[in-house]
Amino acid sequence: MAIPCANGDAPGLGAHAKSLSDRGKNANVALLPMTYFAPIADMLKNLWTPGNRSGCLILAVAENRLSTDLLAQKLCGGLQTIPDDIYGYPLGRGMLRLRSSLAQYAQRTFMKGVQLHADDITVLAGCGCVLDLLLFCIAADGDLVGIPAPYYPAFDNDLKVRCGLEPVPLYLDSSKPLSKQLDAMWDARKFKVLIITNPNNPTGEVIQRATLLEYLHWCCRNGVHLVSDEIYANSVFRKAEESVSLASLLEESEPELKLQAQALCHIVFGLSKDWGISGMRVGCLYTHNTAVTGALDNLGYFAMPSTLIQETAHQMLEDQDFVDSYIAENLRRLDASYSALTGALDTAGIPYTPATGAIFLWIDMRKYVSEPTWQAERQLWQEIVDLGVLLTPGKDCHAQEPGFFRICYAAVPTEGLVEAVRRIHAHLQQRSTS
Ligand SMILES: Cc1ncc(COP(=O)(O)O)c(C=O)c1O
Repeated sequence: MAIPCANGDAPGLGAHAKSLSDRGKNANVALLPMTYFAPIADMLKNLWTPGNRSGCLILAVAENRLSTDLLAQKLCGGLQTIPDDIYGYPLGRGMLRLRSSLAQYAQRTFMKGVQLHADDITVLAGCGCVLDLLLFCIAADGDLVGIPAPYYPAFDNDLKVRCGLEPVPLYLDSSKPLSKQLDAMWDARKFKVLIITNPNNPTGEVIQRATLLEYLHWCCRNGVHLVSDEIYANSVFRKAEESVSLASLLEESEPELKLQAQALCHIVFGLSKDWGISGMRVGCLYTHNTAVTGALDNLGYFAMPSTLIQETAHQMLEDQDFVDSYIAENLRRLDASYSALTGALDTAGIPYTPATGAIFLWIDMRKYVSEPTWQAERQLWQEIVDLGVLLTPGKDCHAQEPGFFRICYAAVPTEGLVEAVRRIHAHLQQRSTS
């Protein structure tokens, strides 16, 4: 997810545009589909802190800053050894020892019961990059990609900017049989790939095992690639529902289904969110599809994290006591932030979809939009921006109807969350009496 330059200098297509190919022009940051990025540059100049209580609260960027102190302690300890091979080129899909420690890490935490092999793991510069290259391999220019909506706003850019794919939002009704709805949608528009996000961005909901199994069976029946984005898999802070990786279902499936599923299922995970290190760019793909891994052995050269980062990630993940204590404490902090935010919203009378994972809350402001239109949603979004609070409008997440907003609650301390809700609530009250 590209963030526009902090100096507010996002270039227009400008004088030199003619010198570019169409794809170069289409990649310009000024054309990013995420409309809520516009105020970020100005807000960054005056951020809320406990010492600057009138500052701005950016609650629209999916970052987890809750546990940076724990990481800083670990990272300040430095590398325990500097192996000779970090001076040279790594393998295209990442250093073997990092892929082994990622395999260990995944099977010990969210892919319980799965026998992961380093050969099936690819490390690239972030999950955005994994999605871009995976889609480059499994889909062709103009292909359709189905995504249950609402969905992560940057998927639009991830799909379109280099691969030229067309996202198709799928509006599913959880009270009706999933397969029948997918059949009807697929009859109307034959998507080649289906992307699910578990836990979900923007709702924070976890996909139930039975639903996940239905996705798996449906995709295998129809020869559709199933990409499970599990970038928030180690951020399930409430275990009300059983959260399960697609990898576990694959492992358990009967041989005939397994054979087909191994070609079609691809699981994306990484360190950006659960570890709050989106800047270090460590994203992973777990797939048994050897044609995909063969292509990535080549393409990885263009998109790998540096060996220093790979080695740092490897040494961090190898320390299993640290991994366990970090995850436990990070989950505790996520839960505390979620409770503070939902407590403030309950007091303000603003409804939301209960979440059990990830770093998002999907709030329902339909009763505060002047009419059920995207324009009225934009107006309310702007009023909230004017209060110094940045939320993600539902439209950017392809919500089915206007009036929903996404709050990313792990990037600021809990007092900041409470302050944001206080400002919104006070504004809504004032609006209703004026
Ligand atoms: C669902 C989802 N997938 C992928 C990404 C991109 O992650 P990365 O920073 O590792 O590229 C994000 C980032 O917000 C995300 O929310």
